[in-house]
Amino acid sequence: MTNIATVDVVAADLDAIAQAKGRVAVVIGAEGRLSPAARRLNRLTRGAVKRLVESDTFTGAAAGDVLTIGWPQGMEAEALDILVLDRRASDDALRKAGASVGKGLIGKDLLLLPGTLRDTADLVEAMVLRAYEYTAQKTAEAKQPGTITVQASDPNALRAAVAPRLAVAEGVFFTRDLVSAPANVLTTTEFAKQLKDMEALGLKVEVLEEDALAALGMGALLAVGQGSDSPSKVVVMEWQGGGDEAPLALIGKGVVFDTGGISLKPAAGMEDMTMDMGGAGTVAGTMKALALRKAKANVVGLVGLVENMPSGNAMRPGDVITSMKGDTIEVTNTDAEGRLVLCDVMWYAQDRFEPAGMIDLATLTGAIIIGLGHHNAGVFSNDDGLCNALTKAAGAVGEGAWRMPLGDAYAKQLKSRIADVNNVGGRPAGSITAAEFLHRFVKDGTPWCHIDIAGVASVKAETTFAPAGATGWGVRALDQLVQSAFETPKG
Ligand code: BES
Ligand code: MN
Ligand code: ZN
Repeated sequence: MTNIATVDVVAADLDAIAQAKGRVAVVIGAEGRLSPAARRLNRLTRGAVKRLVESDTFTGAAAGDVLTIGWPQGMEAEALDILVLDRRASDDALRKAGASVGKGLIGKDLLLLPGTLRDTADLVEAMVLRAYEYTAQKTAEAKQPGTITVQASDPNALRAAVAPRLAVAEGVFFTRDLVSAPANVLTTTEFAKQLKDMEALGLKVEVLEEDALAALGMGALLAVGQGSDSPSKVVVMEWQGGGDEAPLALIGKGVVFDTGGISLKPAAGMEDMTMDMGGAGTVAGTMKALALRKAKANVVGLVGLVENMPSGNAMRPGDVITSMKGDTIEVTNTDAEGRLVLCDVMWYAQDRFEPAGMIDLATLTGAIIIGLGHHNAGVFSNDDGLCNALTKAAGAVGEGAWRMPLGDAYAKQLKSRIADVNNVGGRPAGSITAAEFLHRFVKDGTPWCHIDIAGVASVKAETTFAPAGATGWGVRALDQLVQSAFETPKG
């Protein structure tokens, strides 16, 4: 797995600054007051820090900007970054500054001098999240992110604040690695193996093979995978950190590659469908984060792992298949496969765990990208309480999530002449009809959210948190939701 940066929290030591290698970053508020560390830097650089702070460049800088002095004299470091951040800097400013510095941390060490900054853990987290590069397919030896040494006034307090953030960052990196992996590498079998390996973290992991899925009646999920030589699987991950209360269930779409099947996708851009297991990747990363930080909650993660391929044995348009629930489904378009995978895994999750809440994540529709672009995931829900808690959690960690409507009128678009339901509902409101398809498989009384992450799981332009490519969207939002709504309060 791609490693996260090492974070080393130490006591303030002005004498260590001159010898620090790599980069040195110092926080200075917009009013320009210098901390003891900044004053030491000013002395070492013979006044360069003060000259910068008194210049137009500094007075014209926005919160979160980073001003760099290259190869500063009097220091061993190759760069001195001035982070323009007030003591009570906003989340946005902390993320912006953290991202600018984090980008440069691959192969480089950093000494961070936060002065009186209040939310240093947020700044460190932003740096760690941005110091990511997917190098698993390169033959050259990968450069590792360096060590971030933080000189803190209260090292124990900062260490305690940073530790859970690093656990969550490991989960995010796991998700990114899974989403980035090509489909010939991350087969259903390899995916299941990587999940099974998480047993070492204290999770209970069970892999259900095709014969077991057939015995359970998962005809919809199995139909999607029947054209592929890779066996379909469902993986169940259980984290029992709480008491005997019903768990939160997280369900992920894990289509390791989506060709569209017999309703074949066009060639241009088809390679992007290696990310069609993004929902399962997010569930996996979240379970890893919860286990690493030993969350005091019960959470189960279930993922449906399949490959959607055309072949002599593939499901055809017009086929009628039977779901585990018992509903028959007319498959008008074999490219609307994600919902067929999810409906069986959702039904199984409710049957087996009677969860207190259920959240499914899926790269489900291209239409959600038309609606919301790459800045927000689409959220659909039958429960205002769960949905508000989720969108609030996403907002708190800076992940965009926007609620979309459900409604009977949309569900009616899924009428089938010959079966109980059609798998597609026509072009209008494609993301909502997909959500309404899933809604049929939610039992009365189960609070449920569906998150369509097609636009946010992998992006072409870098974001504050991630370089271009897989983002790991959702791991931090779900972790935050567990913390705010499902975790037993400590003490
Ligand atoms: N995996 C795709 C959705 C998708 C599109 C994800 C772009 C990420 C980026 C999904 O299986 C799909 O093919 N959906 C169809 C549904 C249609 C056939 C009703 C779509 O969006 O076109
Ligand atoms: Mn598809
Ligand atoms: Zn798909």
